[in-house]
Amino acid sequence: MNGQPPMDQNIKPGTFDPGQLDVERIRREFPILHRPLPKGLPLVFLDSAASAQKPHSVIDREREVYENFYANAYRGVYQFGARVDEELEGTRARVQQLIGAEEPDEVIFTSGTTMSINLVATAWGRRFLKTGDEILLNPMEHHANLVPWQRVAGDCGAACRYLPLTADGRLDLSRWDEYFSPRTRMVAVTGMSNVLGTINPIREIAQRAHAGGAVLLLDGAQSIPHSPTNVREWNVDFLAFSGHKIYGPSGVGVLYGRRDLLEAMDPFLGGGHMIDRVTLEGSTWAQPPAKFEAGTLPIAQAIALGTAIDFVQGIGFDAIERHEQLLLRYAHAELSKIRGLRIHGPSPEHKGGIVSFTIQDAHPEDLAQLMDRRGVFVRHGHHCTMPLHEWLGVSATVRASFGIYNTPAEVDSLVSAIQFARQKLRLPE
Ligand code: ALA
Repeated sequence: MNGQPPMDQNIKPGTFDPGQLDVERIRREFPILHRPLPKGLPLVFLDSAASAQKPHSVIDREREVYENFYANAYRGVYQFGARVDEELEGTRARVQQLIGAEEPDEVIFTSGTTMSINLVATAWGRRFLKTGDEILLNPMEHHANLVPWQRVAGDCGAACRYLPLTADGRLDLSRWDEYFSPRTRMVAVTGMSNVLGTINPIREIAQRAHAGGAVLLLDGAQSIPHSPTNVREWNVDFLAFSGHKIYGPSGVGVLYGRRDLLEAMDPFLGGGHMIDRVTLEGSTWAQPPAKFEAGTLPIAQAIALGTAIDFVQGIGFDAIERHEQLLLRYAHAELSKIRGLRIHGPSPEHKGGIVSFTIQDAHPEDLAQLMDRRGVFVRHGHHCTMPLHEWLGVSATVRASFGIYNTPAEVDSLVSAIQFARQKLRLPE
């Protein structure tokens, strides 16, 4: 296999000493990390917050579905159809366990976080929001957790309000009472900012939201791959996340919803599988999750998402968090030494493995392009958070984001690629 190291089939729960993540062993699981770049440069992939790379087991699993038992889901009683249904329910149960949901039927397959949030904004919002109601958001949210609420607020005569941030980029909960009113029906918040890396205190926010009679939606797109999530312990009403950021396939995501809320909501999309009965006069709906799974699901992707969850749980969140914190602290320390470089967001103890920065007199796109010449892949731009960038007072940032396969040596490569870019841009030494 092109000189790739052999696959390690033995990543299973308990294999790793929590706290001592065997990163070389993990890296062997990701074929793309061993793909040489032109000029023999090693790949330094620092864009997992946009989309994570996939281990062999996930890639193989998708292939296995297509090669061995592919069929549509929830439609055929023949052998392949039955197998597909069984495997999908296997993933549903894994997701239930991953997020601590009460029952598997609270887990809905979607195409990703964006669709999950749009589903809630539309199906819950149109049903329950009335003129004068309020939705509490904040400026660090991704557009996927802003735009759907702005749209439904416009449709329903409701208003979006925005809890301010502290100077270092955390939610300013000391100002909660100024922004949470008796008309607040929904609080929608990210578990971890995709730019600042800020980790938000979801349990506390849920408590505050519920004390005022509002519902809480957690955008878990960034937090889910890096730290444990428990919807029951935290009292989360809705949780949205994507498969592709948790080392699973793209095209599949999850919406968790508390059963009573899912039952009370109208469907989102109409079509096959989501109905109980259809006549020419009208239709009635299936029970959740089918009620929200109209049309053909991303079948192979959803099945392979179960494999990705096994992979992550096999490593364990203790080890993952510890490893990523180590990388983050090292990156903060080393990047802070670079002249003119400003890291945006709080100090490492308040954040996950994301470092967004600007360098005085250097455009982020130029920096990212020059860093690419050294084989270091980072994202630049507004990262779908224009209001946050307005708050930061910059139009764009460069973002390095870490996953379980990154190493301290790659932080060194990041630093040396930034120095290379600074030289090319003729910035002062
Ligand atoms: N939401 C993804 C990111 O932050 C795409 O890059």
